[in-house]
Amino acid sequence: MSGFSGDWLAAREPADLRARNADVRAAFCAHLREIAGRRGNRPLRVLDLGAGTGATMRALSPHLGMPHLGVSVRWRLAEHDPALIALARDLAGRDGHEAEVVDADLSRGLSRDLIAGVDAVTTSAFLDLVSAGWIDGLAETLKRAGLPFLAMLTYDGRQSLDPEHPFDETVRAAMAAHQGGDKGFGAALGPAAHAHASARFRGEGYRVVEGMSDWQARPEERAFQTMLVEGWAQAARETGAGASEVENWLALRLTQIAQARLVARVGHRDLAALPG
Ligand SMILES: C[S@@+](CC[C@H](N)C(=O)[O-])C[C@H]1O[C@@H](n2cnc3c(N)ncnc32)[C@H](O)[C@@H]1O
Repeated sequence: MSGFSGDWLAAREPADLRARNADVRAAFCAHLREIAGRRGNRPLRVLDLGAGTGATMRALSPHLGMPHLGVSVRWRLAEHDPALIALARDLAGRDGHEAEVVDADLSRGLSRDLIAGVDAVTTSAFLDLVSAGWIDGLAETLKRAGLPFLAMLTYDGRQSLDPEHPFDETVRAAMAAHQGGDKGFGAALGPAAHAHASARFRGEGYRVVEGMSDWQARPEERAFQTMLVEGWAQAARETGAGASEVENWLALRLTQIAQARLVARVGHRDLAALPG
């Protein structure tokens, strides 16, 4: 189990969709159209890492513009959580995507089989889970294969709630500490992942296009904001913050959510790494 439930991924998907950076996405999609244009009408194959239920595929598909080129897109979704794999298969079938959902543990990097025949690699809300060494290995593998990469929604350590509360900073620091734990890939880079990936892909000779993709929850997104603040409170408990302060803070935030008076913001970054 990964610890990411289908309910959580579904609750965040609308906020993710609004947050994804349009300029980064456009640069990546234009690059893919160039590849497709050069190769005639062979299908384009895209590998998505840590795919969850397939949100990257759903978010990117309308922007790829392949139907105009007469090119179909075949997705390979790499995921290790059995429940999410089952959901991804159901949703891909429902939406009519051409998707193969592969049961893959990515903790040791990308296997040859996984990238065989692939034209591009994507991921969302995944890079902050991995270590520096994992990103270095990814950049080397993709460089060798000449593949473009799109990483969206990498947490960058910024988070805030409106209205503010003095305990928010304790909660934010707890989340930052929690982000650095081992998620199966060695010590996670957490908020440092985007900058590390950006520098590493540039070092490999890639052109990197990057930008912000912050979440701004809507007051009426009660389920999403509830899961968010409950997760933050749990991180605060785990890092030893005062129990009664955590519970008081959480109770206040849940009341504000129920009254549609809370707006949560979380900082993310997107990057497209395009081979020269
Ligand atoms: C925050 S979720 C993002 C899911 C999806 N990309 C999205 O945007 O909704 C991180 C995903 O990485 C997956 N994951 C974590 N460790 C993994 C591993 N070792 N191998 C494959 N997938 C993994 C989780 O199961 C989860 O689906």
